[in-house]
Amino acid sequence: MTKEKATRLFRLWGDRDNLWMTVPVTVAALFVLLVLVKSCQGIIYYHSDECKIYRLGYPIEQARTFTTVLPEQQTHAFIANGEHDTIAYPLLSERYFIARNFNRYLAYHKGDTTGIPLDIVVAMVNIGRDLDAVPCDTTKGQLMLVNGRHYLDENYKPENLTTFSRDYCYEDQKAQSIVVDAFLAMQQACKEQTDAQLMVNSAYRSYQDQIGTYSRNPKGYAARAGSSEHQTGLALDITSRQHPMRWPFDKSEEGVWMRENCHLYGFILRYPERQSHIFGFAYEPWHLRYVGKEAAKRIHDEDITFDEYYAYYLDKR
Ligand code: DAL
Ligand code: ZN
Repeated sequence: MTKEKATRLFRLWGDRDNLWMTVPVTVAALFVLLVLVKSCQGIIYYHSDECKIYRLGYPIEQARTFTTVLPEQQTHAFIANGEHDTIAYPLLSERYFIARNFNRYLAYHKGDTTGIPLDIVVAMVNIGRDLDAVPCDTTKGQLMLVNGRHYLDENYKPENLTTFSRDYCYEDQKAQSIVVDAFLAMQQACKEQTDAQLMVNSAYRSYQDQIGTYSRNPKGYAARAGSSEHQTGLALDITSRQHPMRWPFDKSEEGVWMRENCHLYGFILRYPERQSHIFGFAYEPWHLRYVGKEAAKRIHDEDITFDEYYAYYLDKR
């Protein structure tokens, strides 16, 4: 359209004497505008994260959910990866799913040749099986996590170490004072209910002590120095006067009582039977870890390990 024609049309449109022209020109202009707006919207949508995920082969509702649930950085890495992954959407419904770990779940699952189920993929990544070791965050206090990936410095020594009365141990044993008090309350209840006397076989062990413990024990039963909870003064190895050997203690009335009730006193069974793939040690029915009553109740009720609890409830960002 030439400039003159356009000027004439504009004049006609504004001319009250030519109203019959105003209507079609306005309609045409609005139509052109609408087409322009729709085209722009289409271009913008085409370049949106939702559309990019849709173009990877996910249904539109799923694409929308990904962009709602995942942080931007995870969404962009997911798109950049450029692959349609059948576990990506089901992952979002996993009980302990952490959005910031999303792409690590996908990578861990892809690298696994054994076909582990999704809940285990989530657990393994949450506890950092795919990451390098880091120093233990001791500022977490009674909730500090010590394991093969979170290590203590050789100079770390807890404050408030208190010696147990020899009524409850065969040789001098120390633990943090809060742990000693919790043990006393637990053993009292155990005695009332089972007639048995719980005994502390081992409690605080320094880094140097743990070097010896590690060398004396069969593989899988002792942590390397720096990776043992005993260095925190929050762990106790327990049997009873009636069943001083660890395995008969496991089946004894008081051993069963302790496993079922220790959370009421702030303890958890740190290395339970079912989850050794998570913590990487053998089942230890005697090893209690003090975490306080609130954490102990949740860990007991949800039947998870302390490693999983820590990742999901304390370390989640
Ligand atoms: N027995 C546990 C794993 C330790 O040595 O700390
Ligand atoms: Zn132990």
